[in-house]
Amino acid sequence: MTRLTRADLDSLPAYVPGRSLADLTRELGIAEAIKLASNEVPYGPLPGVVEAVTETMLQSHRYPDMGVVALRDALAARYGVAADRIVTGCGSVALAEILVKATCLPGDEMVYSWRSFEAYPIISAGVGATSVRVPNTADHGHDLPAMADAITDATRLVIVCNPNNPTGTAVRKAELDRFLAEVPSDVLVVLDEAYRELVTDPDVPDAIDTYADRPNVVVLRTMSKAWGLAGLRMGYLVAQPEVAAAFRKVLTPFSTSMVAQAAALAALQQEDEVKRRCALVVAERARVTEALRKLTVDVPESQANFVWLPLGDKAAPFGAICEGRGVIVRPFPPDGVRVTIGTAEENDAFLAAAETALDQLA
Ligand SMILES: Cc1ncc(COP(=O)(O)O)c(C=O)c1O
Repeated sequence: MTRLTRADLDSLPAYVPGRSLADLTRELGIAEAIKLASNEVPYGPLPGVVEAVTETMLQSHRYPDMGVVALRDALAARYGVAADRIVTGCGSVALAEILVKATCLPGDEMVYSWRSFEAYPIISAGVGATSVRVPNTADHGHDLPAMADAITDATRLVIVCNPNNPTGTAVRKAELDRFLAEVPSDVLVVLDEAYRELVTDPDVPDAIDTYADRPNVVVLRTMSKAWGLAGLRMGYLVAQPEVAAAFRKVLTPFSTSMVAQAAALAALQQEDEVKRRCALVVAERARVTEALRKLTVDVPESQANFVWLPLGDKAAPFGAICEGRGVIVRPFPPDGVRVTIGTAEENDAFLAAAETALDQLA
């Protein structure tokens, strides 16, 4: 058969979205299944977002503002950086893709920790770059000295996911300072801070405040998690102006939709509510972690809105047992299971399912 697509894509794993809530609810014939698989914050859209989106829909036959001027100005004011340093995109995953596109040619190397965000191997393969995966430490965090050692003349990009998805671990300022001092100046370092708003450890630096002025650093953020806009797709990055300008050249035109721009502007007005919600998630994170540790699972401290159960070969059956009890979690066989922090009731349902599963798998 004539081959129409690249042969190297055959071995590429497809991105696995969390299982559909409607699907499982139907399959189990229950009132409603619980989804703790995609790291969403469970409290609904922020006040004002639905209204902003609804009003914007009246203009939806028009293209959005391609310059994203109002939103970039609002983000610039909020984060204290010039607007020409901000690039927005259709979720931060799309921005991660353009970072790779703008830095790597086929065969160039991209270094990241593993296990980490499952989109990294996919976006690297998308441009034919070589993924260099540095194994996590025994306590499930980034091994920054090993990542620095993995940089070669072929390395163009290094990603530090802080806190790390799916393990929840975070790297602290002193180790990140040391690492950044070792990275050659012609290698771009991406600090992916999708979960920054959930960080409570004061030693974990805010990369926009701490590192964004370094010429080879890019900070990646999303409004999908704490800001509740996952379904509307709004991510942004902060880079040096000339680096940001290069990113814009490979960005899909009009990829920050009109509704995403309006929703993000409305969400930015609600920072107090975002903080209140994050505090709820953080309190539940502590409670769930403590409860799981009593079930004798080695649960690392999480700085994000999920916890990691390093269950190894038991990851897949653990996930299946939880699903059978109406709770969708996210197994990453053969390493472990990631469980998003939900509402107190959702977390209770998960803890009950986890107890059953761990009993059965003991
Ligand atoms: C570490 C990390 N980066 C980026 C993203 C992408 O988020 P989005 O594309 O929704 O902005 C995620 C989503 O799960 C993530 O965990």
